[in-house]
Amino acid sequence: MRGVFVTGTDTNCGKTEISLALMAAWQTRGARVLGMKPVACGCDPSPQGPRNADALRLLAQGSAAAPYDLVNPYAFSPPIAPHIAAARAGVEITLDPIVGAYRALSAGCDLLVVEGVGGWRVPLSSTLSVNDIPTALDLPVILVVGLKLGCLNHALLTAESIRAQGRPLAGWIANGIDPELQAGDENIATLAALLDAPCLGVIPWLERPVPEALAGFLHFEFLERPDGANDAAWPWIPASWRKGRTHSVGTGQ
Ligand SMILES: Nc1ncnc2c1ncn2[C@@H]1O[C@H](COP(=O)(O)OP(=O)(O)OP(=O)(O)O)[C@@H](O)[C@H]1O
Ligand SMILES: [Mg+2]
Repeated sequence: MRGVFVTGTDTNCGKTEISLALMAAWQTRGARVLGMKPVACGCDPSPQGPRNADALRLLAQGSAAAPYDLVNPYAFSPPIAPHIAAARAGVEITLDPIVGAYRALSAGCDLLVVEGVGGWRVPLSSTLSVNDIPTALDLPVILVVGLKLGCLNHALLTAESIRAQGRPLAGWIANGIDPELQAGDENIATLAALLDAPCLGVIPWLERPVPEALAGFLHFEFLERPDGANDAAWPWIPASWRKGRTHSVGTGQ
């Protein structure tokens, strides 16, 4: 199974925008990529059932058509914590449908980008949390750090927890979600010094955060350092997909 699990420092830190950008970046490098949002809350009603905006965007960015129910096996209407939404719907979130959907989607692509829900330790039931999903799928983790006051603490705690669980932290991406952010460069330098994982991109706040624009700020060359130090975390990414930038950096902003 080839894929990556995208977690973040918080809800609204930019997981979806970065997941779409990762998909676009790898698609440009020749990979057939699909996206997945295993658990989603805040879904809109539709004749086919609840539909989540993140899942629909991941579906639309995919290199091939995929059934909605595989992209988003658990969809809940209220915009509340997943285990509470599930309990209200009389549903218990379990790993089997998620693993089954992941396997089915894997058959039709080279890589799967799986977006978490909320942050890393969000409960999904009385016995299950978001961080159990990448373990069940055996996926390395990419951490999106939404740059704002408080993100250093969230980022360090999240990285610590990922490592304590034995998951490979493949890298982190700084995402400029706050156009008014102060001391951004110093925060990024602090993250680089304290997060023992490669930085795969520093994305500024963009007026139009479309995947292709964000993808231009992603880079994967640190995943192929000459000493091969990170290869263990990325045994499944062919070298050709790690090379080069998606397009020249800069969007005029
Ligand atoms: N680099 C950026 N520049 C400008 N706006 C951004 C950037 N990254 C994210 N945003 C905006 O911030 C908001 C939150 O981003 P996003 O939906 O990707 O977060 P999320 O972590 O996926 O949230 P959720 O927890 O709901 O899944 C969105 O409106 C998105 O367009
Ligand atoms: Mg999202």
